[in-house]
Amino acid sequence: VSLRPYNTFGLEVTARWFARFASVEELRALLALPEVQAAEKLVLGGGSNLLFTRNFEGVVLKNEIRGLEVVSQDDETAVVRAGAGESWHALVQYALGQELSGIENLSLIPGTVGAAPLQNIGAYGAELKDTFEQLEALELATGRLRTFSGAECGFGYRESVFKGPLKNQFIVTSVLLRLHRQARPNVRYGDIQTTLQDMGIEGEPTPRHISEAVSSIRRSKLPDPAQIGNAGSFFKNPEISQAKFDELKARFESLPGYPVPGGVKVPAAWLIEQCGWKGQRRGPHGVHDRQALVLVNHGGAQGQDIRDLAYEIIASVREKFGIELHPEVNIM
Ligand code: EPU
Repeated sequence: VSLRPYNTFGLEVTARWFARFASVEELRALLALPEVQAAEKLVLGGGSNLLFTRNFEGVVLKNEIRGLEVVSQDDETAVVRAGAGESWHALVQYALGQELSGIENLSLIPGTVGAAPLQNIGAYGAELKDTFEQLEALELATGRLRTFSGAECGFGYRESVFKGPLKNQFIVTSVLLRLHRQARPNVRYGDIQTTLQDMGIEGEPTPRHISEAVSSIRRSKLPDPAQIGNAGSFFKNPEISQAKFDELKARFESLPGYPVPGGVKVPAAWLIEQCGWKGQRRGPHGVHDRQALVLVNHGGAQGQDIRDLAYEIIASVREKFGIELHPEVNIM
């Protein structure tokens, strides 16, 4: 089965088996099949955070569990339940339609609801964990459903227990978010403010305004996977010590940095751009010309070549700055 339509890098790779499930019951039935039990399993949402470097010899399980509903509310908040197979942006739009606020800053992030907690998606001053209530997941070993609170998910910067100690042990089936009934505009991120001004928005922006501003920033910087294959940021932004930052700042005056507990976070895109990679092309693959953190497939690239380019970039950033970059994308 070709996986080309199921990975946003648009790579031509295949899977030995491919199956979809639209409910927990269908998932359980699939997992009971002897072929599936014996095979390596890969659960796919939108395939937007994956780099395949070879064909997959196991079974791909595509999560198509749907559903968007408000399950409870109090004076201030409403809890929304979303099926893990819904697209993330469909959930953002649903929340806007219900006049609920809290995830508008996360507009237009590719991928599914079920994939969002795995890496605690974040953008423009917000993270999934800020509105997360709980999730339900099926344990592969037992077929049982289990709920996880935010604390149990162990969220960090693009991290959760599902990428760490519980990797490949659970399949997320639904996610509950607690959203605000009163708009709480979050415009800490500078680009949002300037974009709102450019849009002519005065006074307090509505969640819709913020969603439009974020969408416009994303469209201007990030390539649309439908046009150019990519998986968003390929690397995480590294955190370094204050001492290391001071030392680098003395040598590279324009080095940006944001204080975080225990050190300074520096933009990987800046480091990569300084090494001369921005907009570089290696035949069919390369580095995006408007965001150096994004590796792209212009058409016909091989996953191994993109991975090799990523390692070259890591080596050159290490050489020039003594900083180790780590991939954010899951390399298969
Ligand atoms: N910069 C450069 N060159 C570039 C791009 C950026 O030097 O080509 C520098 C600039 O100094 C800029 C800074 O990097 O001020 C930050 O850039 P940007 O706001 O574009 O954000 P980012 O740190 O590169 C992160 C997330 C994105 C998210 C944006 C916005 C990670 C790994 N990436 O990127 O998330 O959309 O912030 O909040 O944290 C993703 O995870 O796939 C993703 C796209």
